[in-house]
Amino acid sequence: MKNIQLFVPTYNIDECLAEIRECLEIGWTGIGFKTNRFEDAWKNYTGLSNAHFLNSNTAGLHLALKLFKEEFKWNDSDEVITTPLTFISTNHAILYERLHPVFADTDDTLCLDPESIEKRITPKTRAVMYVGMGGNAGRLNDVIDICKTHGLKLILDAAHMAGTVFNNKHIGHGIDCTVFSYQAVKNLPTGDSGMICFTENEFDTKARMLSWLGISKDTYSRAKGNYKWLYEVEYVGLKAHGNSIMAAIGLVQIRYMNRDNEKRREIAQKYDQYFYGISDLKLIEHLDNCISSRHLYQIRVPENLRDEMIVYLNSKNIFPGVHYRSNTEYKMYKYALGTCPEAEKVSREIISLPMHLRLTDDDVQYVSETLLNYIKENH
Ligand SMILES: Cc1ncc(COP(=O)(O)O)c(C=O)c1O
Repeated sequence: MKNIQLFVPTYNIDECLAEIRECLEIGWTGIGFKTNRFEDAWKNYTGLSNAHFLNSNTAGLHLALKLFKEEFKWNDSDEVITTPLTFISTNHAILYERLHPVFADTDDTLCLDPESIEKRITPKTRAVMYVGMGGNAGRLNDVIDICKTHGLKLILDAAHMAGTVFNNKHIGHGIDCTVFSYQAVKNLPTGDSGMICFTENEFDTKARMLSWLGISKDTYSRAKGNYKWLYEVEYVGLKAHGNSIMAAIGLVQIRYMNRDNEKRREIAQKYDQYFYGISDLKLIEHLDNCISSRHLYQIRVPENLRDEMIVYLNSKNIFPGVHYRSNTEYKMYKYALGTCPEAEKVSREIISLPMHLRLTDDDVQYVSETLLNYIKENH
């Protein structure tokens, strides 16, 4: 019997190879060439005014905080409000800049609860890191308002949100900085890469310098000029820019993303139909102003059944995941354990069911019925 995995990326292999071949033939695999084209393709697709291609979303979150910290003269230990329910990149990025993560609680959308954010604001708060869980924007409109009212920078970790439509536009509009991931299992899979999108042009320009060690012009534009060797180094920057091989894959995958995300939404709807109305299960709330990219299909099950249920599903060749263990359980964030009771409870209840483009209707039926049988037998 076949294994049904949580994620299986699907690539348009021949087209990807043709794009990569172009890089290899002209001898340009680094920054410039395809990275510029992919940035244009992303701006075109999303309508966002800036997009800078990076080697990961993690680097982008770090870069956003680094830039804002320097520009607005934040001090070490200034506070960034964030979520415990995320991949650790979100919170590590805060620590990289010697800022202090203050955890707020989540709501039924699995995103940050705006009321909890407000309660955590102090005179030292500088920014909010918001995660669009599984592609869901949650109550982001309220969070945008809170940030405006309190003069806080809003950084959106949109690792799951390639293709999410929010307030009738692609996600990212009206947010200070949005960071996407094109890591191997995301909705727009490359190998490893990401995109940082600032609302203000000035930050985009600076991000381009900072992502290449602080050098003021990238290799590609220098190679066009007469004085290629004469460049300035404005900052002690990072090595975080993307390369043309990853961009080549991205250029192909983006053409299919709407179709792919539609398929993801159909799978989610099918799961919903199996689980709707089952008293032991809780579906994740989605608001009407968001069409989720459906990176994940998550569901809440009784806490006492969750871990054994995963073992049982594994025995039936089904391999779900958990997004995420509350970050307050990790040693570097343990100071906040107990401060976000809802997120900590949710993290013991959630399970992410297989969600990828190779799932058939029969697979979805098999996964759903196997899970429902387990619940029936163990209730
Ligand atoms: C919520 C979230 N944030 C950040 C990241 C990091 O993305 P990347 O692997 O592109 O650095 C991930 C990746 O799994 C993620 O799921």
